Amino acid sequence: MTKLALITGSTRGIGFEVARQLAAREHAVIITGRRQDAAEKAARSIAGSTMAHALDTSDAASIRAIAEWIAKEVGQLDVLVNNAAILLDEGESILQTSVETFEATMRTNALGPLLMAQAVAPLLRRSQAARVVNVSSGAGQISSMSGYAPAYSISKATLNAITVMLASAMPFARVNCVDPGWVRTDMGGSHAPRSVQQGADSIVWLATLPDNGPTGGFFHDRKRVAW
Ligand SMILES: NC(=O)c1ccc[n+]([C@@H]2O[C@H](COP(=O)([O-])OP(=O)(O)OC[C@H]3O[C@@H](n4cnc5c(N)ncnc54)[C@H](OP(=O)(O)O)[C@@H]3O)[C@@H](O)[C@H]2O)c1
Repeated sequence: MTKLALITGSTRGIGFEVARQLAAREHAVIITGRRQDAAEKAARSIAGSTMAHALDTSDAASIRAIAEWIAKEVGQLDVLVNNAAILLDEGESILQTSVETFEATMRTNALGPLLMAQAVAPLLRRSQAARVVNVSSGAGQISSMSGYAPAYSISKATLNAITVMLASAMPFARVNCVDPGWVRTDMGGSHAPRSVQQGADSIVWLATLPDNGPTGGFFHDRKRVAW
């Protein structure tokens, strides 16, 4: 049976590839980005069942609006992939992180995914196979954290903590987070060693886990990794 998946930040990069792969695996996918026209363009270029909707994960009203739209149009959601994120402070020191950078990064990368999960939890509850995948980063791994991009890294460590809390609060779903590795996208740059297909692989795996699959874990290349 066709499942419905919402992927945040799926106009390009890893999110677009996750949407493409899920659409090829009997999912109807909702393509989202900050601009409706970019979401529609991306949706048109994917074979399979696609819809497009504007969504800004830094904006609580935008999050509420898409949840209300899904509730009205479909009444159920099977997969939420919290993929959208920004990286503003590569090369910066935590001693110089500005209020603006820290707030914008935390709002988009950590609070946004939490608000998304809260907003669609009633829709996921109606699914027989609810899955939430939070796209994190190796930069958010506290056990190996360095000085890299402080606001971004802290936002991803926070996203990991949110994942554990959500897994506990949503026993009707499998909720996990994933490090896609360093991937060639606008964010990763052209020198990254991994393709978007490689970056998307574990995300799609977690989005399509069997009912006895893990929940509350942090994964890289389909293997559990340290927090
Ligand atoms: N690339 C890497 O090497 C790498 C490594 C580790 C982790 N990651 C993680 O993987 C995920 C995808 O990264 P990527 O490399 O594919 O990034 P990307 O190429 O920069 O694409 C980011 C996507 O997020 C959307 N976006 C940005 N801000 C948004 C907002 N406020 N609301 C909604 N959508 C927003 C963008 O769409 P619009 O501009 O159309 O809004 C775009 O579709 C992120 O969570 C990132 O942290 C990436």
